[in-house]
Amino acid sequence: MLTEKSIEKTNRVISYLRLSITDRCNLRCVYCMPEEGIRFAPHSEILTYEEMLHLVGLSVQSGIRKVRLTGGEPLVRKGFINFLGRLCKTEGLNEITLTTNGVLLKEFAAEIKACGICRINISLDSLKPDRFFQITGRDYFDRVWEGIQEAERLEFNPIKINVVAMKGTNDDEILDFARLTLEKPYHVRFIEFMPVGANNGWTPDKFISTEDIREQIGTLGVLAPVKSKPLDGPAQRYLLEGAKGEVGFIGALSSHFCKKCNRLRMTAEGNLRGCLFSDQEIDIKTPLREGRGDDHLLKLMNYAIKSKPKDHGSGTYGPRKCVRKMSSIGG
Ligand code: 5AD
Ligand code: SF4
Repeated sequence: MLTEKSIEKTNRVISYLRLSITDRCNLRCVYCMPEEGIRFAPHSEILTYEEMLHLVGLSVQSGIRKVRLTGGEPLVRKGFINFLGRLCKTEGLNEITLTTNGVLLKEFAAEIKACGICRINISLDSLKPDRFFQITGRDYFDRVWEGIQEAERLEFNPIKINVVAMKGTNDDEILDFARLTLEKPYHVRFIEFMPVGANNGWTPDKFISTEDIREQIGTLGVLAPVKSKPLDGPAQRYLLEGAKGEVGFIGALSSHFCKKCNRLRMTAEGNLRGCLFSDQEIDIKTPLREGRGDDHLLKLMNYAIKSKPKDHGSGTYGPRKCVRKMSSIGG
């Protein structure tokens, strides 16, 4: 049962925590991180695994039932698998999932599975090695692809592939990604390019709406809607006739799913954040390190939930930008 505490003022039930494991990453996606990296937080400012476990344990009392581990890239942080094993023993969580860029997936997939994780999201914006290099600054397409194959071999289910659709960059691959679902059991999800992080290259002319993408994919065949389940995210899901996988659309900007948003975010530095687009953050690490009791920490969590903005105030062409980089918030 969810407690009353988790129902904030717009009656959204906040049950989903996105936890950033680290702000570091082994890729340099053009829309996320410059080649030289960003000002990474010093290790002492990053929550220890012990602290993360404690805070996740408390968050269950605030109504959290699902945790997604994000980054930066979670797999680059030392000791991640050990942490994952311990996190999986947290009572009261119904689901733990992982978002990765796939670079280290081949290496770690079996251990991730052994911890009890079956659901995995892999970010991949191109199926062409040279373009992958242009977008991510690293020549790692083959490693990511092999990671995805390994996840399939180990029967991860679902294997979601997140594609950030950008006009002039990878929009000519929309149909290739959709066709992939005919042969492979992957859930390919097209995400609208968002203006997150100062100077992330977002301009209105690079934006492609979910509607445009769906229209293009409609030329391949009928798209039959798939019903989503309660803990599912905001993706609109569809099946191409005869497909082994699914296509999905995350209309991050155009479809105003704020009304249904059930997320709370915790940055690797221990700041709680109600909305990707709002720079309002609540520092929970300092009071934790000062030895304030769990009651106080829980109050802060509930406050973060209650003060979650009603919506991100973003329209398709004039969205509010947030300053913090995506890699440090945890996409
Ligand atoms: N717009 C849309 N998606 C983004 N991601 C990172 N930055 C952006 C952006 N500006 C995606 C990553 C990954 C997920 C965690 O967030 O590609 O799939
Ligand atoms: Fe790394 Fe993800 Fe940012 Fe790409 S988008 S640089 S994979 S954190």
